[in-house]
Amino acid sequence: MTLGVAWYPEQWPAERWGEDLAHMRRLGIRVARVGEFAWSRLEPAPQDFRTEWLVAVCDLAERHGIGVLLGTPTAAPPKWLVDRHPSVLQTDRSGRARPFGSRRSYSFSSPIYRKYCARIVREVAGTVGEHPAVVGWQIDNELGCHDTTRCYGDDAAQAFRLWLEARYDTVEALNAAWGTVFWSHEYRDFSEVDPPRESQTFGNPAHELDFRRCSSDQVGSFVAEQAGILRALSPGRPIGTNLMMCAGEFDERKVAAELDVVQWDAYPVALMGFATDAESVAAVGRTGDPDLFTFSLDLFRGLKGRATWGVELQTGNVNWSRRNLLPAPGALRLWAHAATAHGADLVGWFRWRALPYGPEQWHAGLLRHDASEDRGAAELPRLAEELAVRRPGPAKPPGAPAPVAPSQVAILHDYEDLWALQLGPHGPYDYWRHLLGEYTALRSLGHMLDVVHPNADLSRYRLLAAPALHLVDEALAGRLAAYVEAGGVLVLGSRAGQKDRNSRHVPAAPGPLRPLAGAVARNWESGHPALAHSVRHAGAEHAVHMWVTSLEPTEPGTEVEAEFTGGLFAGRPAVTRRRAGAGTVFWSGLCAGPALTASVYAAALDAAGLPAQPLERWERRSERDGLQYRFDWAKAEVDLSWPLP
Ligand code: GAL
Repeated sequence: MTLGVAWYPEQWPAERWGEDLAHMRRLGIRVARVGEFAWSRLEPAPQDFRTEWLVAVCDLAERHGIGVLLGTPTAAPPKWLVDRHPSVLQTDRSGRARPFGSRRSYSFSSPIYRKYCARIVREVAGTVGEHPAVVGWQIDNELGCHDTTRCYGDDAAQAFRLWLEARYDTVEALNAAWGTVFWSHEYRDFSEVDPPRESQTFGNPAHELDFRRCSSDQVGSFVAEQAGILRALSPGRPIGTNLMMCAGEFDERKVAAELDVVQWDAYPVALMGFATDAESVAAVGRTGDPDLFTFSLDLFRGLKGRATWGVELQTGNVNWSRRNLLPAPGALRLWAHAATAHGADLVGWFRWRALPYGPEQWHAGLLRHDASEDRGAAELPRLAEELAVRRPGPAKPPGAPAPVAPSQVAILHDYEDLWALQLGPHGPYDYWRHLLGEYTALRSLGHMLDVVHPNADLSRYRLLAAPALHLVDEALAGRLAAYVEAGGVLVLGSRAGQKDRNSRHVPAAPGPLRPLAGAVARNWESGHPALAHSVRHAGAEHAVHMWVTSLEPTEPGTEVEAEFTGGLFAGRPAVTRRRAGAGTVFWSGLCAGPALTASVYAAALDAAGLPAQPLERWERRSERDGLQYRFDWAKAEVDLSWPLP
């Protein structure tokens, strides 16, 4: 594990740089991320490239033993570029161009923007790509942040039409797949299809889903273009792009396939600033939700099955939450160890020094505006020592990340399920909240989890949770059946197999999973707490309302694991269980609260021969490379299983 920091030398006088680097070194920092918003300083006018300052920064960093993680500056196009080519700007759903003045003011589908990006990336990488200080690359910054993945302008429309033609071949096939006969949406030619712009009321979910797929692919090809240039001009330096927690605006797995390392950002306390549950805020308002943090890291690790790099982790209070709380003393140390335990090899803090001007002037850094050390910095020297003990030997800048050993339990996550359920929530159902609730249940029973795509190698897991599996085809159903037949335990969730890949309802859920589950869904509702249903499991009664399904066994051997004991579905099964080959499949038709969710998982873990080790509310245990960690998120404490200096 290496410590890093986001540093913006272009925002400070050059005379300050040496002192900054020396100070970083004293705090145990070995990597500085530089350059991701510096386009106007690298190319102040068209083709007037000024990279000398970046060379000077790299030279100086090398002298201080600090590696440079270089950002390509494409997240913030300079004014001259958008003035010259207004078509590069984002167009929102209502058809309005989003003006220059913040950042991310570009469309992924703009061929002109891509040309300028390729040119500046070639220039930067051609100048410093082989500099000995350069240890890796970050492409752009938080792709898709500020709702910028999907653009509704002319370039995006053109890209969408080509994408549809490649997918469907004929417009008749598109009409059939989308069901455009409804409300007279039928098209005569691909050229008639527009992005799903703002309209009177509901659009067609199949249209929206394909637009999300296409927009996601635009992000992928944008990244691939830059990665290709960097690979050629800066060989041997891992390339990534920083992903955000529970964003999912594009298929991060496909994007990660273009990259060498998954990079991520995390602001655990900032997210608590949006929380409304006073009890959680009182307990972990200054450390963050443990499961939201590690779920994200497990997901990022699962994108390539390899160690990740954290490139932005909170240091103090931010400027963008609803309430901008200060982290607890010890929070930075807690996060860095939790990040290590969940697969990170680098933790970079955001940012080095608070800046007195600009949109983020209220954002804290390791140093205050006056360059004195802020609260977070106080934790770093001890942390750096502990991390050095974990991996004996001198702290080195990171190399290409190594695989991380898999857990025995995995939770399935597919971006297409996320999108389909966001487009058809049918009430207050929320994909991320549901997945996270199930993750929390398994974590609170003491297990480490992998978060994996349904196409990953599933055979290594003893228990597979599929709480939000939604779009299911025959091929996937076959793979899951083989997994169970071979002895795996599968837990299907509330909205399993309701739809096919075109986002059309199957005749009866769970569609192709029906023979495996041995049951069908009869009715469901996104309910109301005042009309809750009661469910009995393992001798206890639980109220459920968020998503409630009544199941009906259809195969011999399907048992009732939990039953409705009150409400509209009284007497019907709420959770079924069935042996199939050497394994077992559970199906819970519920989006339940923590107690019932944990109760069902305890039964599933038992069936998988994995012991449940229930933990205290804010206690979590993790393990990596045989090293054990115990975290108390309410007290901001970490117990490590190895001797400390
Ligand atoms: C991140 C972003 C940074 C900075 C930071 C502030 O989302 O990547 O550039 O804006 O938030 O918390």
